[in-house]
Amino acid sequence: MTTADPLLQVTDLQAYFHGFKGRRVVQAVDGVSFTLNAGETMGLVGESGCSKTTTCHALFRLLPGAGQIVGGSIRFNGEELMEKTPREMQQIRGRDMAMILQDPMASLDPLFTIFDQVAEPAYYHRRLRRKTLRRRVVDLLTSVRIPSPEIRMGEYPHQMSGGMRQRIVGAMALAGEPKLIVADEPTTNLDVTIQLQYLNLLRDIQKETGVALIFVTHNLGIVAKMCDKVAVMYAGKIVEQGDVRDIYNAPQHPYTEALLKSIPKIGDKSELYVIPGQPPNLAELPTGCYFHPRCPSAFDQCRSEMPPDFVLGHGRTARCWLVSNEVRSG
Ligand SMILES: Nc1ncnc2c1ncn2[C@@H]1O[C@H](COP(=O)(O)OP(=O)(O)O)[C@@H](O)[C@H]1O
Ligand code: SF4
Ligand SMILES: [Mg+2]
Repeated sequence: MTTADPLLQVTDLQAYFHGFKGRRVVQAVDGVSFTLNAGETMGLVGESGCSKTTTCHALFRLLPGAGQIVGGSIRFNGEELMEKTPREMQQIRGRDMAMILQDPMASLDPLFTIFDQVAEPAYYHRRLRRKTLRRRVVDLLTSVRIPSPEIRMGEYPHQMSGGMRQRIVGAMALAGEPKLIVADEPTTNLDVTIQLQYLNLLRDIQKETGVALIFVTHNLGIVAKMCDKVAVMYAGKIVEQGDVRDIYNAPQHPYTEALLKSIPKIGDKSELYVIPGQPPNLAELPTGCYFHPRCPSAFDQCRSEMPPDFVLGHGRTARCWLVSNEVRSG
């Protein structure tokens, strides 16, 4: 990998869930492409059910049950992950790329101390032992602002608050010294003040360590605070992506526009905008543009033809016929 190469280049990634007893195949990740440079933060945004989590799992080649990657390429750190053996992938996970899940208890084992759990990736992937390992665990717990780390590391997950557990999962993710962390809605289960503290912490860590971050959320407001760029997902596809400021200043896709309108504003007492309807069931997708049943700007072509990804320059793309008309007439 040269310094000019992106850290992560995902091209036309496709991940499907195969139906049980002849039920339909669900094309959960349907031709997703994006790039992330070293040290960059990308927000992956969309309502629940748009396949954000499945995209993250696919990056780690860790799809549950009937899930399978059926096409595309994941180039990470100069290597093609689709060509790796399961054993090689095991090495890469935790060492070079790590995940922070929404529910910290899903990552923490109630039977092991905090020390054991934070030490594990440093033991296996960085081969640290004894005093060096102990010092590393104390440093990691300090970096995620766990008070009295020497004492707390002897305790068990149930002795920690929800916010502390989430920070410990952050320390576990950092322990293997990864180049990429994927944080899947890591603040959704926390109360608002703790959410803000955790977001600030993640941002500080990201600046200090230079780790690249994919930050998954359904809230575009959080992305504005955290990210350099953003990819908006709808029904298994990225419908718009680009630099965070460009997207906030001038969203090109009506879905991005609707997500922006639905960000709660502090001090604003008027009723919060809610996007009408629901994202589609991925087993019963509409014809044409998947957003057309909810789109206020839909016209005939939208109902019959899926718009391609229009390239707008500077890493900006949008999958909407309105953009094509602008591009053509502009
Ligand atoms: N374990 C699974 N088995 C079958 N289908 C799944 C599974 N997980 C997710 N899916 C399908 O993928 C869709 C997207 O889910 P998910 O990636 O969790 O969305 P998000 O994280 O954006 O809320 C679901 O609506 C469902 O159709
Ligand atoms: S293609 Fe049509 S339906 Fe889809 S987002 Fe654009 S205007 Fe709306
Ligand atoms: Mg999810």
